[in-house]
Amino acid sequence: MPATTAAPDSVRDNREKMLERAMSRHNYSGDALIEVLHAAQELYGFLPPELLKKVARKLKLPPSRVYGVATFYHFFSLQPKGEHFFQVCTGTACYVAGAQELLNVLERRCAKAGCTSPDGKVSVQAARCIGSCGLAPAVIYDGRILARVTEKQLNEELDRIGVS
Ligand code: FES
Repeated sequence: MPATTAAPDSVRDNREKMLERAMSRHNYSGDALIEVLHAAQELYGFLPPELLKKVARKLKLPPSRVYGVATFYHFFSLQPKGEHFFQVCTGTACYVAGAQELLNVLERRCAKAGCTSPDGKVSVQAARCIGSCGLAPAVIYDGRILARVTEKQLNEELDRIGVS
C-alpha cells in the first residue's frame, strides 16, 4: 500500500512487547499455554512456527507440546488462509480513528472478519489493540503495520491486488 504513511521504525511493531506482557501476566507459566496462544493469534492473526518456538522457549515447554496444542484446537491457525492477510485493529484509538469503516470496506469487498474471500485471495481479521495506538487507525497487511490508513488507500490497494 505505497500511499500509506510509513510508520517510524521505533514504533513499527509493538506486537512482540504485547505478547511478552501477556506471558508475563501469567508469570510465564506453562499452564497458561492456551491463553498465551490466544493472545499470540490475536496479535499476529495466525501462529507461524517461529512464534510457537518462542512461546515454547518463554514458557519453558517442549516445542512439541506447544505445537501439539496449537494443532489440536481448531480455533488456532498455523498459517494465514488467504493469499493476502488484512488485520484491522479495532482497539479504542483505532476505532475512534475510523477502524470500523476500514473493516466495512474489507467485509464488503472481501470477506467477513475471521473469514477468507471465496477465491482465497484475502483473509480479514479484526484485532484488539496491537500496541501502536499512535498510528491509528492501524492495519496489519501481510505482516507489515500500516499507519493512519484511509478508506481510499485501502480501496486502492484492494484494486491493485485485483479484488473486484
Ligand atoms: S487501538 Fe489500535 S493500536 Fe492501539
